[in-house]
Amino acid sequence: MLYREMGKTGEKVSILGFGCMRLPIKGSYDQIDFEKSSKLLDHALDRGINYLDTAYPYHGLGTAQGGASEVFLGEYLDESSRHDEVFLATKLPTWLLEEAGDMGRFLDEQLQRLKTDCIDFYLLHSLKEKQWFQLEDLGVLEFLDEAVSDGRIKYTGFSTHDETSFVKEVVDSYQWDMCQIQYNYLDENIQAGSEGLQYAAGKGLGVVIMEPLKGGVLADYVPQEVQAIWDDAPLRRTPAEWALRYLWDIPEINVVLSGMNTRGQLKENLETAADGLPHSLTSEELKIMEEVKQVYQGEISVECSRCGYCMPCPSGINIPQCFSYLNQAEMLEDYSEVKNQYYFMLKDTQRAGNCLECGLCEELCSQHINIREELRKVEKKMGS
Ligand SMILES: NC(=O)c1ccc[n+]([C@@H]2O[C@H](COP(=O)([O-])OP(=O)(O)OC[C@H]3O[C@@H](n4cnc5c(N)ncnc54)[C@H](OP(=O)(O)O)[C@@H]3O)[C@@H](O)[C@H]2O)c1
Repeated sequence: MLYREMGKTGEKVSILGFGCMRLPIKGSYDQIDFEKSSKLLDHALDRGINYLDTAYPYHGLGTAQGGASEVFLGEYLDESSRHDEVFLATKLPTWLLEEAGDMGRFLDEQLQRLKTDCIDFYLLHSLKEKQWFQLEDLGVLEFLDEAVSDGRIKYTGFSTHDETSFVKEVVDSYQWDMCQIQYNYLDENIQAGSEGLQYAAGKGLGVVIMEPLKGGVLADYVPQEVQAIWDDAPLRRTPAEWALRYLWDIPEINVVLSGMNTRGQLKENLETAADGLPHSLTSEELKIMEEVKQVYQGEISVECSRCGYCMPCPSGINIPQCFSYLNQAEMLEDYSEVKNQYYFMLKDTQRAGNCLECGLCEELCSQHINIREELRKVEKKMGS
C-alpha cells in the first residue's frame, strides 16, 4: 500500500480508503452483513488500508436514529482489537441539528457507537451554502474547537457537494485539517471541481475523495463507444482501474475512498492502488481519458451518483434505481432489455410513476437533481 501525508496533519494515510456507506447487506440497506463486511475489512486492513470513512446516517433508512454503519464499525474494531491500526473518520449530521446542545449529543453518541474515546477525523457532513450561516450561528466552529481541546476528536474537516465558491468560503472560515469532496474524471467542473480541490490543498487541507467511480456508474455502465476506446488503449485496464489511476495521478489528493462491497472489487482496487503514484499516467494515457470524458459527457442522462441521500421516498420509489435504469438504457442505447429489468426488479411502488411530486427528495439530493422532472422522464420512457 502506498501512503500520502494528509495535508498539514502530516498523518500517513493509505491512498485507498474504505468507504463504509455501501457495505454488504442482508436484505434491506439497514441490515449489514456482519460476517461478510468483517471479512472485507480484515482483508483491507491486512493489505494496509488505514483510513475508514463512515457517517451517522450510513446504512440507515433516513430516520433520525442514524444508521448501522457506525455501530458495525465500532463492533468490528472492538472485536478484532484493530482500533489502533486505523484512522477513523465520521461526520456530524448537520441537517439534524436544531439547537446547540445537539452537536455534543451526536458526538457523544457516535463515540459510543464507534466504541472509542477519540475520533481521528470528524467532519461536518454535507455542508450546504443555504445552511452554513445557520450552523455558524449555532456555534458549530466553537463546538469543533471544544471537542478538539477536550480530546473527543483529533482533526476537523467537512464534506460538501456544493459549488466551488462555497467550498472556498468554507475553507477560509476555519483552521480545518481536511475536507472530503466528490471528484472523478467526469466531475472536474462540477461541485468543488478541480478548482476547489486545488484551493483546499493549497491552504494545507488534506483532500479525501468520495464517489471516485461516480458511485459505481463509471464501472457499471460502459457505453460501447467508451469500451472501444478502452479496448484500443495500449494497456489493458478495467474502467474502475482507469478511474482510480486518474485520481492518484493528482498529487494533491491524499485518500480516494471507494465503497467496495465484494472481495473482487477490494482486490482489484488494492492492486490498482499499488501503482497509484502521482504523475504516473503518461500524456498518451491522459489523452485517452480525455476522449472517454467527451463520450460520457454526451451520454449520461441523469447525474445521479446513487448516494441514496434522497431516500426514503414517502411513496416508496427507489429513486437511484429508477435513474440507474434510465442511464443504462440511454448509454447502452437499448430500452427493451433495460425496461424488462425495470419491471422485473422493481416493485410497483418503487417505480417512477408513483411520484406524488412532494419534492422532499430534492431538498436532500447531493447532486442538485431536479428529481421530479427526471422521474417524469423515467415514467415516460420506461412506463409502458
Ligand atoms: N460525505 C458525503 O456526503 C459522502 C457522499 C457519498 C459518499 N461518501 C463516502 O465516500 C465513499 C466512497 O463513495 P462511493 O461509495 O460512492 O464510491 P465509488 O467507488 O464511486 O462507488 C462505489 C461503488 O462502485 C462500485 N465499485 C467499486 N470498486 C469497483 C471495481 N473495482 N469494479 C467495479 N465496480 C466497483 C461498486 O458498485 P456496485 O455495488 O454497483 O457493484 C461500489 O458500490 C462512500 O462509501 C462513503 O464512505 C460520502
